[in-house]
Amino acid sequence: MPRMPLIAGNWKMHGLKDALGFFDELAASGAVSEGREILVCPPATLLAATVQAAHKHGFRIGGQDCHTESAGAHTGDISAEMLRDAGADYVIVGHSERRADHGEADDLVRAKAEAAGRAGLTPIICVGETVADREAGREEDVVGRQLAGSIPAGLAPTGYVIAYEPVWAIGTGRTASTGDIAAMHAFIRSSVPDGEQVRILYGGSVKPENAQEILALHDVDGALVGGASLQAESFAAIAKSA
Ligand code: PGA
Repeated sequence: MPRMPLIAGNWKMHGLKDALGFFDELAASGAVSEGREILVCPPATLLAATVQAAHKHGFRIGGQDCHTESAGAHTGDISAEMLRDAGADYVIVGHSERRADHGEADDLVRAKAEAAGRAGLTPIICVGETVADREAGREEDVVGRQLAGSIPAGLAPTGYVIAYEPVWAIGTGRTASTGDIAAMHAFIRSSVPDGEQVRILYGGSVKPENAQEILALHDVDGALVGGASLQAESFAAIAKSA
């Protein structure tokens, strides 16, 4: 089975109700195709409204994070079951901004990925080294450890997605070289069980200008896009490169 390309937008803490026209614009820009899956992860406040606007065109919606439990006394948190109930199909877990801003470590990320699977969502499990790790030549050690710690044992290879996002490339305009991306994606594929079936996305300053060469790499099955996913035109241009 070929791996279906996945182009995922992560809106982070951006987006008000006036963003809902985005999905009509995305469709009008020619992003719809049988050959790829398009996902947007809006802020939680827009989930319900975006599900309607997105599903009309066959786009999918995901959460940006979830709690490990299905319900309970956890003020401000959202469970995987709630995301599913709102119409989400995916949830990002272990994004480097969650790891850095909220001290999320691998065991918590793994529990969140487990919660996603329990709720019927596909987790997008993020890994990636810092610039210090890369300069010290320990990027494979770091990513290998994150993979071992963050992926639940029971998940089928098609039941989750990995996003490789070098921390130093996120929101900085700096992308990893295609050689470095190819090497890391091959390493990731060889590190996980049944890796041939696992979709591995690249993330970190993906934009229309570099999407084509990154998405053409053999072990790159799509992209996780931050800044360039906020405008329908640039996100559509990236999607069309897949
Ligand atoms: P960026 O963000 O595309 O703005 O670098 C990517 C991400 O954080 O997922």
